[in-house]
Amino acid sequence: MDQINPTTPINPMPRHIAIIMDGNGRWAKKRGLPRKAGHKAGADALEKLAKGANELGLEHLTVYAFSTENWKRSDEEVAGIMDLLRRYLKEHIKAAKRRNFKVDMIGERSRLAPDIQEQIATLENLTKDRPGLNLHIALNYGGRDELLRAMRAMAREVAAGSLQPEQIDEEVVKRHLDTKDIPDPELMIRTSGEERISNFLLWQLAYAEFDFSPKLWPDYTIEDLKEAIYAYQYRDRRFGGRKE
Ligand code: FPP
Repeated sequence: MDQINPTTPINPMPRHIAIIMDGNGRWAKKRGLPRKAGHKAGADALEKLAKGANELGLEHLTVYAFSTENWKRSDEEVAGIMDLLRRYLKEHIKAAKRRNFKVDMIGERSRLAPDIQEQIATLENLTKDRPGLNLHIALNYGGRDELLRAMRAMAREVAAGSLQPEQIDEEVVKRHLDTKDIPDPELMIRTSGEERISNFLLWQLAYAEFDFSPKLWPDYTIEDLKEAIYAYQYRDRRFGGRKE
């Protein structure tokens, strides 16, 4: 009988990792700082992690930056996150030539301020042919909202006669999602000790492995990501099947 070699990973490096960057507020509170300072530290942590992930050769990284539910936060906090986003997009637009990774956005963008929508379009255009990491930023994103938008689009096609109800299969649904060109994540990480999916990539995470880190997002580093990837590589994934 073959001996299982414990140093040989079961799974290859994931192609796509999704992250719920949670704990910015608690990070700031622990230091007696305003919540905005926590989000600023969170944006810095994202910047470092994306660089590290790019060096690791990761193909896709999707991060949850602002959910469809986050509008319920105070006007001041929402404005603070939007200002950070403006700054983040501006820096990326300036640095686009020097960097080799692509940045794009998933989520419903019409609710974002027009100048932010413009910056996003500029950055997407500037970076679309880059060979490195694909960084997907989820903004005004909700899994249910994405599915509803896909359902409405399919219903419109059925009403127009260009799609038959019987033709709707997983591939057709996928084609109507914001992530139509992206493989499903194999690994989803959430920081800050919370163990919930919170309306993130509901369709796409169907078979993902989950990794919950106790670290608050601003403290999460590339070393933590490497550990999560390593642990993932030894997970026994069965996709509903049985092991022989
Ligand atoms: C969750 O922490 C974090 C958010 C809702 C916002 C995430 C935003 C960033 C990482 C920075 C902005 C992003 C970009 C791309 C510029 P929380 O506020 O829910 O933390 P808490 O649970 O400790 O209060």
